[in-house]
Amino acid sequence: MTEKKIPDKQCLGDPIEPANIVIFGAAGDLTKRKLVPALLKMLRCGLLHPKSKVIGLFKGRTESDWLESLYQGVRAYAPEVNLDDGQWQTFKTMCKAVPGDLRDNATYDGLKDALETIDGHRNAMFYCAVPPQWYATITTGLKRVGLTDETDGFRRLVIEKPFGMDLESAKKLNGELQASLDESQIYRIDHYLGKESVQNLLVYRFSNSILEPLWNRNFIDHIQISAAESIGIEYRANYYEKSGALRDMIQSHLMQVMTLVAMEPPVEFTADAVRDEKIKVLRAVRPFEKENIKKQTIAAQYSAGKIDGEAVKSYVAEEGVSPESATETLVGARFYIDNWRWQGVPFVLWTGKRLPRRVSEIVIRFRKPPFNLFDTEGNPPLANALVFRVHPDEGISLRMNAKLPGLTTDIKRSVMHAPYSEDGGDISDAYEVLLHDVLSGDATLFSRADEVEESWQIIDPILQAWKDKLSINRYQAGTWEIEGMEELFEGCELGWHKPGH
Ligand code: BG6
Repeated sequence: MTEKKIPDKQCLGDPIEPANIVIFGAAGDLTKRKLVPALLKMLRCGLLHPKSKVIGLFKGRTESDWLESLYQGVRAYAPEVNLDDGQWQTFKTMCKAVPGDLRDNATYDGLKDALETIDGHRNAMFYCAVPPQWYATITTGLKRVGLTDETDGFRRLVIEKPFGMDLESAKKLNGELQASLDESQIYRIDHYLGKESVQNLLVYRFSNSILEPLWNRNFIDHIQISAAESIGIEYRANYYEKSGALRDMIQSHLMQVMTLVAMEPPVEFTADAVRDEKIKVLRAVRPFEKENIKKQTIAAQYSAGKIDGEAVKSYVAEEGVSPESATETLVGARFYIDNWRWQGVPFVLWTGKRLPRRVSEIVIRFRKPPFNLFDTEGNPPLANALVFRVHPDEGISLRMNAKLPGLTTDIKRSVMHAPYSEDGGDISDAYEVLLHDVLSGDATLFSRADEVEESWQIIDPILQAWKDKLSINRYQAGTWEIEGMEELFEGCELGWHKPGH
């Protein structure tokens, strides 16, 4: 009989000390869709201490309405939780509501009182599931009542992107947060870094000796980091109109991934050692100059089309979007990292909404074989690729050339695929990983203030160049016909790797 595998991969991880999980914006969408499902899964796996409490701040409803909406939300958006009555009852007893307006001092006094009634510990994680304009109000409110002070337990603040809208506003936000908290107490979440395959990228890079000699300009032709989405902007016109795809996905998620692909091995796997290496990558990124922004970037917006046979409207017809909007829903940018390892290797990052499928991947394209030894009749061996599939079908594949069976030396593409689904257990959702990290004080996967500012420094010239644009190219929803995409990969071996091709 084969030995039984560890039953649930989600249960791997150290249990953590009890903590109060305070959620600002507890009646909002993020709480229902992501935070509560993650907490429920952590509770089931023993990763959330049963003495922890979940304290929800919101206004305009009762505690029982709030709990009911969480319950319905988990059932609707997170079926993978398999919520049963017993589990929900246990979770409910851990929840407490603190209704109030974020602008009122009384809300923070009420929160402090509520936290003081909880026995046994004073640890608290404050999760801001609210728009960024509230962050400074919240931290000031917490500081006023002494809830940022760590003398009797940890006090950690978690915030979601955007961390500013450009360099100037990012600096302002960092200053405001640091006026109330020490940098070590601030956890800037980037949920992409909590994804299995993104973390596996680090393990793959730094635990396989065959990769190390290849991981540089001598063997790698270019690197593509992409996130194609089939969804539109959903209900978020208000945010998206101001943000656009460059801020929403490139400045945050995809540039973070780029730093992990490109960084030097850190001396140890600790938060600051890893983040120091990531920052060095950002500092080495060649600045975008006005003259080459046109050549090195593309921006476009979806027009109406069909996805999976269903008609979808154009971006400008989405609720809340101005009919004249020139906001980009697709963006591509070609980066260069001017250092010893990566000189001359293009890093092409691209993302778009309303594309035919949801696929996110990291494609490491190696140089082509120097010479074709075989008589392959116009079908030469192609450059190898190592592909990290972030989703769906998380896993890693290596594209090689192999012999076609039979009396021939003809070549076929052979894909060695290592899907995660075969490794046993579910794949943890990014939020479980990241919440667990915050509660255990591990900031490795969170962005530091200087890192955020460096990345804006890189993106600011593109924002400046696009600032006054009145029109934008269109692409039809549900197609890969994107003007300029092939050109963005000019000179790159095999060009644009369309997802799934
Ligand atoms: C969010 C962006 O940060 O990431 C969204 O604001 C995007 O626009 C989402 O859809 C993508 O994340 P995931 O995990 O679905 O790939």
